[in-house]
Formats: sequence, C-alpha cells, structure tokens
Amino acid sequence: MNQHTVVLIPGDGIGPEVADAVRFVFDKAHAPVVWEEHLAGLSALDKGLDLLPEETLEAIHRHKIALKGPCTTPVGKGFSSINVALRKKLNLYAAVRPVRSLPGVKTRYDDVDLVIVRENTEGLYSGVENEVLPGVVMSMKVASETACLRIAHYAFRYATQRRRKKVTLFHKANIMKLTDGMMLRCAEKIHTEEYPNIEYEPLIIDAGCMKLVQDPSRFDVLLMENLYGDVVSDLAAGLVGGLGVVPGANIGDEGAVFEAVHGSAPDIAGKGIANPLALVMSAVMMLNHLGQTRHDDACKKSAVRIRDAYNKTLADGCGTRDLGGQLNTQSFAQAVADRLS
Ligand code: NAI
Repeated sequence: MNQHTVVLIPGDGIGPEVADAVRFVFDKAHAPVVWEEHLAGLSALDKGLDLLPEETLEAIHRHKIALKGPCTTPVGKGFSSINVALRKKLNLYAAVRPVRSLPGVKTRYDDVDLVIVRENTEGLYSGVENEVLPGVVMSMKVASETACLRIAHYAFRYATQRRRKKVTLFHKANIMKLTDGMMLRCAEKIHTEEYPNIEYEPLIIDAGCMKLVQDPSRFDVLLMENLYGDVVSDLAAGLVGGLGVVPGANIGDEGAVFEAVHGSAPDIAGKGIANPLALVMSAVMMLNHLGQTRHDDACKKSAVRIRDAYNKTLADGCGTRDLGGQLNTQSFAQAVADRLS
C-alpha cells in the first residue's frame, strides 16, 4: 500500500490534544499516512524557532499536503496571524468548509448540508492597517480581479463536481461598491459564461445571514470574501452542533492544508476535554483529497471507514461535552477506533 507523507502541525492550545486523537484514530484504521511533524505558532516560539519557521513552509512545499491544528493569535496587539500568513505564503486561496447535520447531534435543524467557499488571501486580511492621525486608524480591504475570478471559478467548479445545485454569493456591494462590487461582477461573469446550469443567487450578506439561520436548507454552496467567510463559518457551525464538528480545507494549486474551523480554545486547553472530531473530519477530507489527486483508492476507503466510525459513534450517543456527552478527547478517539469496521 502506498504511504503518503503528510506534514502535521499540532499548533497551540487544544491543537496538540486533538492532533494526538487524529493520530490515534489513523493508527487504528491503518490509514496510509506517515506523519512528519513540524511546528508553527507559539509552540514554535517556545522552542526558539520563528513563529512560522522556514522549515515548516519548506516541508509543506515538498509534500504538498498538511494537517494543521489551530494557532493562537493575540487579540488587539502582538504578532499577526500565523494562520493567515501560512495561507498567503502557500497561496491557499480557497477555504472549503462543509457544514452538515450529524447523526445523534441534536440541533434546531436536522437537514443542514452546505459548503462555505471562502476567499482566503485578500479582503480585510491584507494586514494593511495604519494610524492616520492620533486617534484615527484605518484598515485596507483589498480585492483583485484575479483572486475574485479564481475563487468564483473554484466555487462553481466545486458545485459542478459535487453535483450541487446552487451557489449563493454573500456580499455587501451596496456599501463596498468597488471591492465587493468586484466580487459580485466576477461571480456573475463566471456563472453566465461558464456555469449557466448551476443556479446562482447573489444576496446582501446581512439579509443572507437572516435567511441562513431561518432556513439553512435553502443554501447549498456559499461563496464569499475572506472576513465574511470567517464569520459565517462559525455562525454555520452553530447550526450543526458547534465548532467541535466543522472541518475545513485550505486549497491552492500547489498544495493543501487541512484544519478545523475552530481556534486554539484557550479556555479548555490542557484539560483533555476538547472535541477532536472537527480535526478528525478535516483529516478525512485530507484522505479524500489524497485519494482524488493521487488516484489512490486506499485513501478513499480509509476515509469512508473513519467517517462511518465517527458517524456510528455519534449515532450511539457518544460525544464530548460540547455536544452534551460525557467523553473526553481520548475516550472519544477510542470510541471511534472501536467502531472501525
Ligand atoms: P475558538 O474557536 O478557539 O473557541 C471558541 C469557543 O469554542 C470556546 O469556548 C472554545 O472552548 C470552543 N471550542 C472551540 N473548539 C472546540 C473543540 N474542538 N471542542 C470543544 N470546544 C471547542 O475561538 P476564539 O476563542 O475566538 O479564539 C482562540 C484563539 O484561536 C485566538 O488566538 C484565535 O486567533 C485563534 N484561532 C485560530 C484559528 C486557526 O488556527 N485556524 C481559527 C480561529 C481562531
């Protein structure tokens, strides 16, 4: 069986705990993956390295695939986000975040099945902020036609390949006429010229969010710029059980980094109670990506086995505390391993 080397970045806070759980489940499933561990974030700084060490970037360039735990970013001061820097440096322009109702996880809705496609390199995450005058600061929102066309193309192609019916663009082009106007025009162009068979709906984001919480079943693929994608991902996570159950992928033309939507959760870090499922699900997305891009059926089969096992675990009523269950991080991983076929 082909073994694929994957860069594993445990990250900060709950990152190492949930990354250990993924390793445990993958070992028990005999998934065709060999982990090569590298550091980023505060854990790299603690070891005397840079926040985003060159060797970590080089390893991802070499293997073209990574699984990453969350990295802490100080709020309102200090260094810029390592997560944003990594996505930009590797040109991982599309964040893909499937949000689905899960068996046994009781929420207001039982029919959520949507995918958020977030532009991952521009917008207000350009990192250009200035103090114009004492007491007056500004932040620059950047939109390039190249990046808007690229992400719109990605979303429509994704919808077509996954047999999804509709792409909805969340925008605020009524206020940000140039930047969001650019995204709106690019999405319309790609739809009309290349994907007329996929239904397309542009919605102003404020009303879009109202519709999303009222009836998530009316949405399918949701396309949006960077900041909106960040915020709406967490909102959507709330529709299916919270941040412990929403995975993600950052995709570029030269590689892919898989990570959960959640952050380093400092409030519960070190207690061994974090839900590892979001990172396990991200790792399953990674296996499917390997299966698809490297034409390896063993990866696809492994993905199905692990997904079936965590679905059974949840359906049996076994969950971590964030889902109202009793299990801790390791006992949840064990429960998944026990259900591998
Ligand atoms: P967060 O996602 O870390 O936590 C929000 C809430 O959800 C907390 O109450 C936390 O305990 C809970 N939670 C998150 N993941 C969970 C899990 N797997 N199991 C159980 N409960 C979970 O968001 P927050 O507090 O806004 O950010 C904390 C730090 O994480 C910040 O430094 C932020 O910059 C960073 N962050 C990093 C991300 C990344 O590495 N991709 C993404 C989001 C935030």
